[in-house]
Amino acid sequence: MDINSTTGPLAEITADWLIVGHFTVDSSNPLPAPLAELDAALDGTITRLAASGDLTGKLAASHLLADVPGLAANRLLLVGLGHTDELDSRRLEKALVAATRRASKSASVSAAIALPELGSESISDSEAASLAAMALQVGCVGQALYHTDPSRYAFSAASVHSPADDAVARGSVLGEAINLTRELVNRGPMDVYPESFADRAAAAAEEFGLDCEVLDENRLQEERMGSLLAVARGSVKPPRVVVLRHNGGPEGAPALAIVGKGVTFDSGGLSLKTSEGMKTMKCDMAGAATMLGAMTAIARLGLPVNVIGLAGLVENMPDADAFKLGDVLTARNGTTIEVLNTDAEGRLVLADVLAYAVDLKAERLIDLATLTGACVVALGEEVTGTFSNCPQWSQALEQAAKQAGELAWPMPMHDLFGDLIKSDVADIKNVGPRWGGSVTAAKFLERFVDKTPWVHLDIAGPSFASSNKPHREGGATGCMVRTLVAAAESLA
Ligand code: BES
Ligand code: MN
Ligand code: ZN
Repeated sequence: MDINSTTGPLAEITADWLIVGHFTVDSSNPLPAPLAELDAALDGTITRLAASGDLTGKLAASHLLADVPGLAANRLLLVGLGHTDELDSRRLEKALVAATRRASKSASVSAAIALPELGSESISDSEAASLAAMALQVGCVGQALYHTDPSRYAFSAASVHSPADDAVARGSVLGEAINLTRELVNRGPMDVYPESFADRAAAAAEEFGLDCEVLDENRLQEERMGSLLAVARGSVKPPRVVVLRHNGGPEGAPALAIVGKGVTFDSGGLSLKTSEGMKTMKCDMAGAATMLGAMTAIARLGLPVNVIGLAGLVENMPDADAFKLGDVLTARNGTTIEVLNTDAEGRLVLADVLAYAVDLKAERLIDLATLTGACVVALGEEVTGTFSNCPQWSQALEQAAKQAGELAWPMPMHDLFGDLIKSDVADIKNVGPRWGGSVTAAKFLERFVDKTPWVHLDIAGPSFASSNKPHREGGATGCMVRTLVAAAESLA
């Protein structure tokens, strides 16, 4: 879906839904712009609404005027932005996605968004225009991919009222990238398995101009990825590793590598999960899908940096040939691993792919993984945990998250956590004690990044939402796509 940018009087915008953001309304004060402009075209309707207390401007509260003869638009949806001085990108996103979700419930509908001048210290008007475009893309796509009768429809046309057409285009690209990630995560494991994910990545690479290489099981043997291959043994679906490249920087210039966990279904293997624990485990490839979404955006925005995107794709199943407790695996970098829980499979997959990224001479690493329930216990369902071997790179990522309007928080990485994964029979074991489980998992990964500056993002909480909210669809969220793009930009 293309998104245009427009300028001119609000009354002349043609759209089925004209969505207009406005700050809080206080009937004893004049109407805030752009309500005054609309009020003139609507013969005082908005003044009367404000006086009756029906229009408050509370954050994300919306008010529909379905009969607006004074406007070129068919409907006017007024959406509250809250108090001027409290506005930030997260609050604006909440208001705008709530509005686009409300407008996208019928087919063949066009939508336009107009915002007032924000005068905000935390978000510029062009960043807001970008966010509006993103909201138009994200709000009209839901998780009901398999409804025979669709419950949400892409807009037939969409525009943002802003002179900042580059910002609008950027927001649209980010929105489509987020939707790609969401779609892959929301599809069931019968549709998304290592080979089909790799095919989809190759198609996206072709479409957006990324180099793409897919390593099959024979190649993975040759590359000595014994740890990843062990996880794949319990499934009839063969594993894949996808390597995408965006060569936006000078030839030979240092590259950023983004590595995603792509467990297309996590049954737990022989350490079988409960039904309850397994229900949402189609989401266990969210790291890989986030990498793919971000790589498409990085390519489409033409960022002047070299970025390698890698996905470790396996299905974790308990077949007769499945890997077992007590097995000792040799990872690509020679590290031996005692398997004591086949449900701690993500780290086994990432171990080999991280080592491969190091061998590709990546200068900096980011990995993303729905790695541990323990991280959800620690930080809840909306905050990504960051774990790192390099304070500067970790801070750069936290800064990128902040700029992108996403929530991330640093976790400790003291040596004592590393001691908890020492094994009596191998170099390390794949599980530690229950306490500090997200950190011992990160300490495990650290063994495979050599000295390369690295940040691990545990997205087990924020990548998948349990229920629909007015301001965000349940299921896959596409979290961290924007942060990855901002992190790549920070290296330009
Ligand atoms: N994929 C899960 C982690 C997960 C949990 C993701 C909840 C999303 C929501 C991971 O492979 C896993 O099973 N981790 C175990 C580790 C344990 C066996 C050390 C966990 O968190 O229980
Ligand atoms: Mn698991
Ligand atoms: Zn898993």
